[in-house]
Amino acid sequence: MDKKTLVTYFSGTGTTEGVAKKLAHAIGADIKQIVPSNTYTAADLDWNDEKSRTSVEHRDQSIRPNMAEPVSVADYDVVFVGYPLWWERAPLIVRTFLESQDFSGKTIVTFATSSSSTNGADGRRLHDSASVASWKTGRRFDAHVDEKTLASWVDGLDL
Ligand SMILES: Cc1cc2nc3c(=O)[nH]c(=O)nc-3n(C[C@H](O)[C@H](O)[C@H](O)COP(=O)(O)O)c2cc1C
Repeated sequence: MDKKTLVTYFSGTGTTEGVAKKLAHAIGADIKQIVPSNTYTAADLDWNDEKSRTSVEHRDQSIRPNMAEPVSVADYDVVFVGYPLWWERAPLIVRTFLESQDFSGKTIVTFATSSSSTNGADGRRLHDSASVASWKTGRRFDAHVDEKTLASWVDGLDL
């Protein structure tokens, strides 16, 4: 790809990280992790506990968890944004990231991992956090997706 491309991702338990690394390798992109200031513990990630951190954040979509360090997209034309689906949505730290950067003239493509859901992987709900970007429809990948599948997906995006 001629365009300067960055793969960014947030991962709670390493699954999205695995796919992000394969994607970056498959397409020769740089990679940067979206790291929360406060790591999500196993208790935080307990979706069956309505008092858990993720449950609280799910109920209040205005929350913007802090990032440990900024992730700059200034040097890139295309930015992939990967995340796990939490209740079929992107974790709110993804919005913290999107709202922290200037995406004018840039293209964003989301990708997600999940137990089974596909809703939320397209990134549509996130558009209002970076409305100046040109958005492509993202998709959900299995943890075991291979690089060839990822590369042919990107080929088909017409970036
Ligand atoms: C708080 C929370 C909510 C989740 N909600 C869903 C869901 O709605 N649908 C689904 O298929 N998987 C759901 N999952 C499972 C994750 O999407 C899945 O395990 C994902 O691959 C984890 O990625 P990670 O290891 O990068 O954090 C949820 C997990 C957590 C922790």
